[in-house]
Amino acid sequence: MTNRRTTTTHRIALIPGDGIGNEVIPAARRVLDSVAARHGLGLTYETYDWSCERYASLGAMMPDDGLDQLRGHDAILLGAVGYPGVPDHVSLWGLLIPIRRGFQQYVNLRPIRVFEGVPSPLRDAGPGDVDLVVVRENVEGEYGEIGGRLGRGLPEEMAVQEAVFTRKGVTRVLDYAFSLAERRGGHLTSATKSNGIIHTMPFWDELVAERAAAHPEVPWDQEHIDALAAKFVLDPRRFDVVVASNLFGDILSDLAAAVAGSIGIAPAANLNPERDFPSMFEPVHGSAPDIAGRGIANPLGAIWSAAMMLDHLGHPEAATRVTDAIATVLAKTPVRTPDLGGTATTEEFTDALLELL
Ligand code: NAI
Ligand code: MG
Repeated sequence: MTNRRTTTTHRIALIPGDGIGNEVIPAARRVLDSVAARHGLGLTYETYDWSCERYASLGAMMPDDGLDQLRGHDAILLGAVGYPGVPDHVSLWGLLIPIRRGFQQYVNLRPIRVFEGVPSPLRDAGPGDVDLVVVRENVEGEYGEIGGRLGRGLPEEMAVQEAVFTRKGVTRVLDYAFSLAERRGGHLTSATKSNGIIHTMPFWDELVAERAAAHPEVPWDQEHIDALAAKFVLDPRRFDVVVASNLFGDILSDLAAAVAGSIGIAPAANLNPERDFPSMFEPVHGSAPDIAGRGIANPLGAIWSAAMMLDHLGHPEAATRVTDAIATVLAKTPVRTPDLGGTATTEEFTDALLELL
C-alpha cells in the first residue's frame, strides 16, 4: 500500500466562440485555476478558435474532424456562438448542434436560482424562494432535420417540419430527470401539450407515467406548456425539477432565467450521462454583440457553468466552493457588472469573486 496522493488530471477543451464568449471564458478559467489549486485538481486546457470569425475566413465554423479533435477531452467549456453577418442557423448547426448530437448530450440541464442581491423582476420571488432545474431533451423532438420546403417562391409554397420522439430518447431523459428529483428530495413536473399535439405529446405522457412507476418515491405531476409558462411567472416557487421536450425546455429555461433576474447568470450543461463522450458546459446567454469588446460582460453564467463541469468531473466540493462564492459576491458585496446595475468590468467582478473563493 502506498500513501502517495494522486492528482486527478482532466483535459478540458475551451471553445470561447464569438463576442463576449471571448471575455467570459477567460474569467471562468481564472476561477477554475484558482479552485483547482486549492483542491489539488490538475486541469489542462486546449483552446479552439471555432467561431463565426473562422467561418468568415475559412467557410466553416469548425474543421471537418472537429468532433474527433474534441473526443479525447474530459469536458468542453464553451462561451457563445453566433454573430451578425453569419445567419444564426448556420452558426448553430455548424458547431453547437453537431457537438450536442454527435456526443449524445441528450440532457440539457439548466439550474435556476434567485440569489440574494439580484432582484427578480417578480415581486414575490425572493432569494431562496426559487431553486429549480429545467431538464430539457437535447437531441431530438421538435428540433429535427426531417422535413422540407416545396414550391419555393410560389403562392402554394409550403414548409414541413417533423417532430421526432423516440421511446429510447424520451425514456432516458425522463429517467435522468426522475433520478435528479430523487437526489434533490424534490418533485418532478412534466411539460406537455397533449391536448393540442395529438401524437407526440400523448406518447410523451405515456412514457412519463411509465417512468414514474419505476421511480415510485418521486412525487410528480404534469402541466400543459401554456399554463406552465404562466405558473413560472405567477408562482415559480412551486417548481423543483421540470422535464420538457427540446422546444418546450428551450423556451421555459430562458423564461426561468429571466425570472431569476439576469440571463448573464444562467448556466447550462449538455450531458452525456453514460460518459461515452465528453459533456459540454456553456452559459445560457449568447454572444451579446451589443456589448462585446467592451469588457463589461457578466461572467457568472460561464463561471457557474464551469462549476457544473467540476461537479460532472467528480469534484462536488470544488463545485460548491464556486457556487458559494457566486452567492457571496452577490449577497455581500456591491460589485456588479452593468447588466446587474453596477459599473464593474468583467475582470473587476471576477477579481471580487476570486477573493471570496
Ligand atoms: P444574447 O444572450 O447574446 O443577448 C441578449 C441580451 O442580453 C443583450 O442585450 C446582451 O447584451 C445581454 N447579455 C447576454 N449575456 C450577457 C452577459 N453575460 N452580461 C451582460 N449582458 C448580457 O442573445 P441575442 O442577442 O439574442 O443573440 C446574440 C447572438 O448570440 C446571436 O447570434 C445568437 O444566435 C447567439 N446565441 C448563442 C447562444 C449560444 O451560443 N448558446 C445562445 C443564444 C444566442
Ligand atoms: Mg434558448
